[in-house]
Amino acid sequence: MNKQSRLAMAPDHPLITVVVALAVLAGMVLSATRSSGEAEPPQAHGAPVSESAPPPPASGDPDGLTEVDAADVAGVREAELPYDGDVSVAVTYPVVPNAEPLADFLERELTDEVHAFEAANPGAVSFEAEWNLTAAHDGLLGVRMTRVETDSEGSREGYTTYWYDTATAAHHPSAALVGGQEQLEELNGLVRDAVGNGDGGEGSADPGLIHPIGSLYDSVGFNPDGDLVVEFDAGQVAPAEEGRTRAVVDAGEAEGLLSELGLRVRDAATVGVEDFSIAAPPQADKDGQDGGPVPGQVSAVDEDVDCSDPDTRCVALTYDDGPGERTPELLDALAEYDARATFFVTGHPVMEHPHTVRRAYAEGHEIANHTLNHPDLAGLGTGGVRADLDVVQALVYRETGHTMDLMRPPYGSTDEGVASVTADLGLAQVLWSVDTLDWKDRDASLVHDRAVKGASDGAIILMHDIHGTTVDASRTIIRELDERGYTMVTVSQLLGTTTPGETYVDGVPETPEESADPSEEAGERGEGDEEASEEV
Ligand code: NI
Repeated sequence: MNKQSRLAMAPDHPLITVVVALAVLAGMVLSATRSSGEAEPPQAHGAPVSESAPPPPASGDPDGLTEVDAADVAGVREAELPYDGDVSVAVTYPVVPNAEPLADFLERELTDEVHAFEAANPGAVSFEAEWNLTAAHDGLLGVRMTRVETDSEGSREGYTTYWYDTATAAHHPSAALVGGQEQLEELNGLVRDAVGNGDGGEGSADPGLIHPIGSLYDSVGFNPDGDLVVEFDAGQVAPAEEGRTRAVVDAGEAEGLLSELGLRVRDAATVGVEDFSIAAPPQADKDGQDGGPVPGQVSAVDEDVDCSDPDTRCVALTYDDGPGERTPELLDALAEYDARATFFVTGHPVMEHPHTVRRAYAEGHEIANHTLNHPDLAGLGTGGVRADLDVVQALVYRETGHTMDLMRPPYGSTDEGVASVTADLGLAQVLWSVDTLDWKDRDASLVHDRAVKGASDGAIILMHDIHGTTVDASRTIIRELDERGYTMVTVSQLLGTTTPGETYVDGVPETPEESADPSEEAGERGEGDEEASEEV
């Protein structure tokens, strides 16, 4: 098997090729042999034409996505994104004749991106983005966006590549080039290897930060040789000051992992473009994605688990206020028992530990909203509630691509205003049925006893992963619940379909709504007041 993977990293210019390895598969038409990463890529123009006159080779550097000169695309013009928010925005995107649905999609998508950037960054300053084409051939267009986001912390460069079918008007994210979630996981292993090979001092990317999720695999394409290229934004998998990280997976290794679209894209992206035009508008304007679920979107609901089955005893472990320093240890413990949990995250920990949020999401845990500043929402007014929840929605969306549909009001404190705002934002309110009081008693064995004794079919157990004692307690809690035959599930799995704005305390079936356990509510208020003085 051909095994040739490389990692390249560079702040601005694609410069350093770290590792090139091993054999080259004989007979790979598109895979040129390189003895080192130094070889010059073949150029589209002026390349010698062989007797059978094959299409000219694609342009681009061997560690990056292919590049198409926009001048070779008939009638293409540049549009500027209109924006009237507070941040300074300079975003352009291409408009190609007879591919108007693509331009419409890009306008919506980029507008959403700018909004999410602004919402997630209280210190947002500016958002700039420009485009280039990475493919224009055989009914396919590849548009690669390079953006620079500037906030009070500085500027970071990021990349997103979209794929568009000119016949059907379907647009696809980069992860759709891969056949399915299993294939994306396999590709992720190859990408981790490629990054792990970067031991030449240049590659301080951490393979452990690379997960098979759409928000990381959002700029995928091919180099001129047909090797698959994944590019990660500055700061995603290596320190931000190092700029982007790119991984190149050999064409032969990537081939079996590609979807039908991926194979088409590879073939379209690896020929030189001399003049490209779209003869007619799309036959069908799907104005959307094709087909089934896109790889890299991880569901918090496992189809193989049925909590309504009386033989399945489900319990939801929930962790608030994080993620914390030791949350990765908790994730290890959950993984050991194939257990799922729900993390009700707050804003600043998400900003501090984005890698942990991505990992938890990638491993099938549920990420839910616990507000930016942990206020008592009942006293805040609807505008304040919305502003607080909005930031965390945007933060988690930017890290994972996931739009959360559960929230937990701090201290369990809610009112009609909170209900109406959460209904509006598509968030169900989740309280708890078992309180371990782990924030108060930093005693692992006490926390353990409360969790295990309180566990019952349908229980929602409240803990806080910012406390080391809770992480310690969780190891034994998870082991013991597993031994007792419990299935540890996410809240969404436990509750099934939820209604935005509604409040849930457990997943015990057939609880009449009005009897939402009066003792529970009394407990929440009392505990809440104490917690208010306790928590930061
Ligand atoms: Ni809290």
